[in-house]
Amino acid sequence: MCGIIGAVSNSNVLPVLLGGLKRLEYRGYDSSGLAVINEPGKFLRLRAPGKLVELERAVSANGEISGLTGIAHTRWATHGPPTEQNAHPHISGGRIALVCNGIVENHEELRTLLTDEGMEFQSETDTEVIVNLIFLHMDKGSDFMTAVRTCIGSLKGAFALGIVNADEPGRIIGARRGSPLIAGIGEAGVYLASDISAMIAQTRKFIVLENGDIADIRQGKIEITNLDGQLQNRDTRISDLKPQAMEIGDYRHYMEKEIFEQGQAVSDTLEGRITASRVLEACFGTEAERIFDKTENIQILACGTSYHAGLVAKYWLESVGMPCQVEIASEFTSRKHPTPKNCLVVSLSQSGETIDTLTALDYAKHCGYAHSLAICNVPDSSLVRNSELILMTHAGPEIGVASTKAFVTQLVALRLLSIIMARKNSSSDLDEADSIRELRELPANVESTLELEPAIQEIAQQFANKQHALFLARGIHFPIAMEGALKLKEISYVHAEAYAAGELKHGPLALVDQDMPVVSVAPNDAQLDKLKGNIEEVRARGGKLIVFADSETRLSSRENLQVINIASVESSIAPIIFTIPLQLLAYHVALIKGTDIDKPRNLAKSVTVE
Ligand code: F6R
Repeated sequence: MCGIIGAVSNSNVLPVLLGGLKRLEYRGYDSSGLAVINEPGKFLRLRAPGKLVELERAVSANGEISGLTGIAHTRWATHGPPTEQNAHPHISGGRIALVCNGIVENHEELRTLLTDEGMEFQSETDTEVIVNLIFLHMDKGSDFMTAVRTCIGSLKGAFALGIVNADEPGRIIGARRGSPLIAGIGEAGVYLASDISAMIAQTRKFIVLENGDIADIRQGKIEITNLDGQLQNRDTRISDLKPQAMEIGDYRHYMEKEIFEQGQAVSDTLEGRITASRVLEACFGTEAERIFDKTENIQILACGTSYHAGLVAKYWLESVGMPCQVEIASEFTSRKHPTPKNCLVVSLSQSGETIDTLTALDYAKHCGYAHSLAICNVPDSSLVRNSELILMTHAGPEIGVASTKAFVTQLVALRLLSIIMARKNSSSDLDEADSIRELRELPANVESTLELEPAIQEIAQQFANKQHALFLARGIHFPIAMEGALKLKEISYVHAEAYAAGELKHGPLALVDQDMPVVSVAPNDAQLDKLKGNIEEVRARGGKLIVFADSETRLSSRENLQVINIASVESSIAPIIFTIPLQLLAYHVALIKGTDIDKPRNLAKSVTVE
């Protein structure tokens, strides 16, 4: 959560900082701030509660803000509400300014210690202890770098820091423990940021800081050391991120753009991974064949939408004889469990920086799980760097907080994995060539499903005054219903819950009345007759149903039942196709409700706190 950008440049850094914050705003958007050294020994700082536009207003109102060194931050509040005082950068003694992404776990203890030393606090944040501690060490005679090192040595928690000293313009110190941080090398300057998107207008050349790294960033020189001051060698990388991939174009929202990019995203994720009749195992990594050959079961770990992708994969993998467990990453670490033999841990994440997923992967390794595979959308992310096998989803940058194209491409990647696992199991009857053909047809099927938008737009009106909604499905489509409910609640704030349709009569049916819209997906599969029965149970109680149905199901609209037909698709890819109308429904309900679709309240895209 929280985004950091810092720059040392040969021209005013203000546009770099504001441009960087704009690209980082997806990481947190409840307040923002910046500080520049406008003359040696002097900071200019501006902070504003609310979205970045408030900071931009403050900047315009403040006339000339300029300096060649500066740091900036967009916040997702953890400690202290999103007020100006709690916004970063925090400054201590007028000399040290600091931005932080993460949490200092021992902040209370440090606050007491610093207060005993006579230091005063201006905010309720945990971050302020860091800047005060650095200042205290400097006040007692330490140089800037030594003060930073000593301070970091006494912090508990996971964080990324950007720190400047007003007396040393032209220098930023960055430090990483847990939360992501990169340093960039450009023609006009050097940079520090939470991710490459923040500095892509300045440079493509960057270094990923590892946990424990401290980067001393000066014009023309970046030196990376560890806490003990030993030099660390880190590769310089070149990002292939295209700035235009981040432009919104003619769309109203990034979410809309990302929903409509899904056909292309699926093609890009398949490209180079399949031949006419085979999935190329090597696309998971050079060790893939050896590891997959001995894999006896799979443990999937993920959060939120990615977790739903994992639940779909369980059906696919088990149908080809591969035992599979799926667990919410933050729950996986909450208990001891037996370590299965030859188990492949598959972690799913759009960002690759979700701390719960990273921690769960670490825990699995600690417990002795044999191997790891990351399915991820962000190259060079922590998850990718911590996994043995990798399959990148090529969804392109996903900026809307609600995940859409990342989910669909995760499903494609997981389908590829299932096909490989089927190949390894002689008793599986899955026909690989048929499965490949179905995947090849997928982009066109996605495109034609997107054409349902006008019909869905109309249906969305029915949700305008509703407070609650139920989503029902059976089998492999139950996780799709869960994903549909999550999309609706997170962007429209309509309370939505998904139930396995068979569970309805075990409790939730009590909620059904004419004010509770019930959304269902009805593929033409073995569960259909039972689902039809569940639909009737709702109708009999006056419930109003909206059913997205495969045209082969012959379900038709009648009283209290509105059916939207979807062109019939093979059951293997049906979960991917049925996702699309639910995304569009959530989008149009949110549009009617006038919520901030790309930045729903209280959320952030990259969840880097536990
Ligand atoms: C919901 C959503 C979240 C993320 C979750 C995990 O639309 O986007 O539920 O799926 O925070 O994020 P990643 O996939 O980046 O690990």
